[in-house]
Amino acid sequence: MTHQKTHEDTLSKIVSLCKRRGFVFQGSEIYGGLAGVYDYGPLGVELRHNIKEYFWKSFIADRDDVYGMSAAILMPARVWEASGHTELFTDPVVECEICHEKIREDQSDEHAFKHKSESGSAGYKFTKAKKFNLLVGARLGSSEKTATDVYLRGEITQGVHVNFKNIVDSMHPKLPFGIGQIGKAFRNEIAPREFLFRQREFEQMELQYYVFPEKKEGEKWFEYWKNFSFEWYTALGIKKENLRLREHAKDERAHYAKNAWDIEYNTPFAGWKEAFGIHHRGDWDLQRHGEYSGADLVYTDSETGNKITPWDIECSGGVDRAVLFVLLEAYTEDTLGGETRVFLKLKPELAPIRAAVFPLLRNKPELVAKAREVYTMLKKESANWRTGGVMWDDNGNIGKRYRRQDEIGTPHCITIDFETLENDSVTVRDRDTGKQGRVKISELTKILKNIC
Ligand code: GAP
Repeated sequence: MTHQKTHEDTLSKIVSLCKRRGFVFQGSEIYGGLAGVYDYGPLGVELRHNIKEYFWKSFIADRDDVYGMSAAILMPARVWEASGHTELFTDPVVECEICHEKIREDQSDEHAFKHKSESGSAGYKFTKAKKFNLLVGARLGSSEKTATDVYLRGEITQGVHVNFKNIVDSMHPKLPFGIGQIGKAFRNEIAPREFLFRQREFEQMELQYYVFPEKKEGEKWFEYWKNFSFEWYTALGIKKENLRLREHAKDERAHYAKNAWDIEYNTPFAGWKEAFGIHHRGDWDLQRHGEYSGADLVYTDSETGNKITPWDIECSGGVDRAVLFVLLEAYTEDTLGGETRVFLKLKPELAPIRAAVFPLLRNKPELVAKAREVYTMLKKESANWRTGGVMWDDNGNIGKRYRRQDEIGTPHCITIDFETLENDSVTVRDRDTGKQGRVKISELTKILKNIC
C-alpha cells in the first residue's frame, strides 16, 4: 500500500534522507554552513552523474549536429559587459525597516506576514527597491596594480558563445548546429532557499543551437527543442501530470530572450517551479561579443557564400534542480510485510547503485566467498554500463540491508544463500514490490544490463 504523500514535509524528509544516506550535505557544514552552497556525497554524486550522463547522451553524443565542449568558469569582466549581465542581470532588493534584512522585492509580502504572525502588529515598511547584481566577482593577479576583475560565470552559456569562432574554425560545422556543455554557474542569490532549488553555486546543462537567422527557421527549431526538452524531462521518471510547459510573459523574459518557455515541475513545497528553460536568444550574444571583442563572429554559408550571424535557440536546465525534482518524485512511503518503509522509486538507469550483493550470513565463510565471487563478477561487468554501480553489503540482518538499499533506490538486491552453494542460483529482490525470485548466477549480468 502506497501512502498519500503529505506534501509540506516531503522536502524536509528528502533533506534528511540526503544527509543520512550520503547524497547531499550543507556546504562547509562543520563551520556553520555556507548558505546556498551544497556538497554532494558518494550517492548524490552518482545520481547527479547519471542525470548529466543522460543529458550528454541525448543532447550531444547521440547527435551528429551537436558538439560538446567545456569552457572555463573564470571569465573577464568584459565578457559580462558584452552579454548584458553587468547591467541587466539584477534582482530588485528591498530592506525591511524593522529587522534590516535584505530581501527580494517579490518576497516582501511573505516577509511582512512572518513579522505579523510573530508580533501580531501590521504596517511594515520596506525601503525603495534597488537593483542588486547577481554576478559573483573575483580578482586575479598577484599585485594590486596588475590584478584584473573577473567573474565566476553567471550562466555557462557565455563560454560557448565566446568559443563560437573556435568551434567553427576547427570543426567546420554546417548550420544548423549546436554546442552543448555541462558545468558550474554562480549567482549571488539574495535568498537562496528550498535546498537544491535556489543555490549560489550550481550546475547547468545547456545546448546552444545555432540556426539560419530567419523567422521560420527560428520558430521551427524553437518548437523542436521545446518538445525535445519536455520529452527528455519526462524520461527522468517524472509523471507527465507533474510537468508542464509555460510561456514567459514579455516582461518576465531575460534581457537576451525574444521568446522563452519554461518546463515547470509541480513541487510539493511551492507548486509549479522552473526546472528547465528554452530561450530564443536571436543574435544577441554573437552580435554583442563581436562588437565588444572586435572578433569576426559571422558565419559564412558554404553554399551561398553569404555572411550571417546565426540565431541561437537555447535549452538550459539546472542539474541540481533535476536532482531535487527526481528525488521528490521518487520519494515513496508504503507498507511492506506489515512494516512502514521509505524507498526511492528511481528509474533504474538513474539509481546510484544498480544492484547490491549480500551474503545471507556474514559469519559463514562459504557464503561470503561465493557472494564475493558474484560481487566481483558484477563489479567487472558494471564497467560496461553507462550508469549505476554494484555495492557489497553484509552489515546487519537482511531486513535492515533491504531497508537501507530501498532508501537509496537500489532496484535489485541479490542474496547468496545455502541454496546458491548447491545450484548456483541466487535470490533477486525487486525494490518496488519487495517480491523475490530465484535466478541463475549466469542470468544476472543479462538482467542488470537490460536496465540501460
Ligand atoms: N543560459 C540561460 C540561463 O542561465 P536561467 O533560467 O537563468 O537561464 C537556467 O537558468 C536553469 O538553471 C534554470 O531553469 C534552473 O534549472 C537553473 N538555475 C538557475 N538559477 C539557479 C539557482 N540559483 N540554483 C539552482 N539552479 C538554478
